[in-house]
Amino acid sequence: MMLCVIVPLWALLSITQQAPSQDTCVCEFENSETIFPHDKLSTAEDDASTCNSDVTPQQTLELEILLLGLKRRLPQLEADVSILEKEDDGDLYGVLSLRVAENELLEITQLFNRLNSTSLRYQRLTEGTTKQLEDLRAEMEEMAMFDTLQVVKRQQDNQRLRRDLDQCEHGLQPSIHPTRPPVRADCPHGHFMNVSGPRVYTAGEYPGSYMYGAWGRDPKPEVGKENWHWVVMLTSGNKFSNFVRRYTSLSSLIIGKSVPGNVQIHAANPTTNTIQGPNAVLYGEALYYNCYNQDAVCRFNLTAKTVTNLKLPKGTRYNSKSNFCHIDECYHFTDLDLLTDESGVWVVYTTPQNFGNLVLSKIEDGKALELGRTWRTSVYKQGVTNTFMVCGVLYATRYVDKTTEEIFYSFDTMTGVERFDIGVFINKMAPNIYSLNYSPADQMLHAYANANMVSYKVLFS
Ligand SMILES: *[C@@H]1O[C@H](CO)[C@@H](O)[C@H](O)[C@H]1NC(C)=O
Ligand SMILES: *[C@@H]1O[C@H](CO)[C@@H](O)[C@H](O)[C@H]1NC(C)=O
Ligand SMILES: *[C@@H]1O[C@H](CO)[C@@H](O)[C@H](O)[C@H]1NC(C)=O
Repeated sequence: MMLCVIVPLWALLSITQQAPSQDTCVCEFENSETIFPHDKLSTAEDDASTCNSDVTPQQTLELEILLLGLKRRLPQLEADVSILEKEDDGDLYGVLSLRVAENELLEITQLFNRLNSTSLRYQRLTEGTTKQLEDLRAEMEEMAMFDTLQVVKRQQDNQRLRRDLDQCEHGLQPSIHPTRPPVRADCPHGHFMNVSGPRVYTAGEYPGSYMYGAWGRDPKPEVGKENWHWVVMLTSGNKFSNFVRRYTSLSSLIIGKSVPGNVQIHAANPTTNTIQGPNAVLYGEALYYNCYNQDAVCRFNLTAKTVTNLKLPKGTRYNSKSNFCHIDECYHFTDLDLLTDESGVWVVYTTPQNFGNLVLSKIEDGKALELGRTWRTSVYKQGVTNTFMVCGVLYATRYVDKTTEEIFYSFDTMTGVERFDIGVFINKMAPNIYSLNYSPADQMLHAYANANMVSYKVLFS
């Protein structure tokens, strides 16, 4: 042991003994090694952390979203221009179509300018960062020479070995092929399999202003409103709202240009039959939501501007008594969750009779509003953060951590089969998804998370 310590010391130091002058004895230590550059290391550390904060995944997403906006916008312009060409008889219709095309062009120009400035910014950032990384690398290589005891190198070797071992273990796992029921006629896309990464990520028109809300695309739009998107923002104390805001396309939602503007339910907020909680959906030009201060679903007809009421079974929990939750937080006023799928509108709620587990009912949407078939599930509401419905199958999510949400549960209304092993992960852009809904119009999951709107493509097999 002693030897180990002494030998490197001897290697480091050469001691020269000076001739004694009278009665004093002087020893001179001469370090044959260069001194470790602590200041250089700390500069490198600073540089690395600046680099980390400069480059974030959100930034690359921004570019992707702008491109997506442009991609969706251009065919629309093309369509509008061809309408214009057909109608160009010099009359009123031609003039109107010209205005539409002009607006389209204006929005595209805005998008394009944003894209231009964003890509210029990234170009500069990329150039700067590449140079920084090269410098850092050179400095670190230089510093590795000071690792005379090879500590870092051994650590790296160990990490590599551990990784190889992990891969080896995983490679040996047997793969499971569950048997699947046949594809249904009403589910043209096949079976729900997975979700993509975020496809749209935007702060919308009022960045950061409204924490709670919902957004999406009408699965059964009116003719001419096929591309329209809607947003409900909880404006009063993050609990209530009295309007739905509409956008003629996804890109106008992203750039924050609402041409039709708001459709108001009532001038007061909150009041009888206005919106309570974030879990609203738009279906067939009508907004479905939890009515303010009632155990009931409201249907607001956007055309007639009338509200129809559907009382839920006696004992249904409301007024923030039975919310979606995760370990750190419950999402207030989420007693009722409205959902859309290929077949229409559904509502998820809880009753004491079902011990606080989720209850699912179909909403029958004739002239009157009626509660259709009802299913009781065995999943406890407070262990769930959100639900959505695809092709008659209910899915539930739970919070994993700030960046990940898991779709863990499903209930098939055709077979009554419940599963707790779905294991599909959602890559979050903000910690709390306050509302989540599926639109069969574009097979997208629309999430409203901490004032941001995010969407994910549902992948079928
Ligand atoms: C992009 O922006 C730069 C700087 O603002 C400008 O000089 C350039 O003309 C723009 N390019 C296009 C194609 O608009
Ligand atoms: C689901 O999609 C994610 C992201 O695209 C991917 O990483 C993951 O491996 C997929 N999972 C399955 C089970 O296919
Ligand atoms: C909304 O009102 C309009 C006009 O009264 C009517 O034609 C339409 O069917 C209603 N929509 C729903 C979903 O009830």
